[in-house]
Amino acid sequence: MPTTITPEQIQANIDEIPRIRWSHIPTPLEEWTAFREKIGGPRILVKRDDATGLAYGGNKSRHFEFEMAHVKNQGFDTLININNFHSNQARVAAAGCVKAGIRYILVSQGEIERTLQGNLLLVKLMGGEIHRVSEAEDAMAYAEKLADKVRADGGNPYILNKDWFPEIMGTIGFVEAGLEIKAQLEALGVERVHAWGLTGRSLPGLRLLAKNLDLDWKASMIKYSPSDTDQLRETMVRRSKQGAELMKLPIHLDPDDVEIIDGFHGGAYAAPTDAAFEAIHLVAQTEAVILDPNYTGKSMSALIDRVRSGGFTKDDTVLFLHSGGLPQVFAFNEELTAWSRTIDD
Ligand SMILES: Cc1ncc(COP(=O)(O)O)c(C=O)c1O
Repeated sequence: MPTTITPEQIQANIDEIPRIRWSHIPTPLEEWTAFREKIGGPRILVKRDDATGLAYGGNKSRHFEFEMAHVKNQGFDTLININNFHSNQARVAAAGCVKAGIRYILVSQGEIERTLQGNLLLVKLMGGEIHRVSEAEDAMAYAEKLADKVRADGGNPYILNKDWFPEIMGTIGFVEAGLEIKAQLEALGVERVHAWGLTGRSLPGLRLLAKNLDLDWKASMIKYSPSDTDQLRETMVRRSKQGAELMKLPIHLDPDDVEIIDGFHGGAYAAPTDAAFEAIHLVAQTEAVILDPNYTGKSMSALIDRVRSGGFTKDDTVLFLHSGGLPQVFAFNEELTAWSRTIDD
């Protein structure tokens, strides 16, 4: 399909969207030759979005530059967020609130007996007020009550989980990341890549950029839970339409623009898998880069599986998205230790 928009126009359109800048971008694109030697198969280029800088980085650092401007410009002074007890998003939201000068209240759901570790510890260090609720509790009802209290005290609360904007902030951030990658690939003389990652906003953002500029980029998105695949496709298309509208892009995604890969989530969100633990160890021991158990460890386990089953040739180039998540390694210290013991014994 002939392209009707230029990279410069896309960047100019993104630059019109309010944002507060803090990320260390462009992040590096690096080649993993030792890892490739270990597993065989395709050339592997890695977009190091674990290195975006803000409080241990990750893809969400890009996303929240737009989100915090969106919150601040509407006059909110308190951000209330509901997320899982070891969530990266909960950490980056805390960091964004520090940067924007906004009070942060986290309703942290699940495993309320676990000690403060990983992301949750970092939220605490950054001054986030943490309320821990069990899986069985109605976290939204809890958050609404907190919002009432903030209002009664004269504040103006924003409940992140009720807004539409967080749905698409990551698509914007990753259309921009795609522009970085395009320039980095050109410098390497690479035209055709297969983008690979476990993300519902970021990877489709890359594909959206590629589709608008008619770049030869395939994309595969690995599922993080046993959710309905058709529903996931619908969500992806909806977000891409909203994102395209905001960024004035002529083209949005169709349901089959991104391959969706099932079977590597371990049966539930954040369920530990041996394959992810193996991937974490392999990458750490060949490249000295740390993946995480919930996202990048799982997407890498899916990539290793495809390489081992002959799904790539040595002439292919995979663009692996390292979307961050480092602090989760510490929240999963017991599980990782137990897995290491099974190998050492
Ligand atoms: C490390 C990591 N990778 C990937 C994702 C998914 O990101 P998104 O769906 O916003 O692209 C997240 C978000 O929770 C994350 O923390």
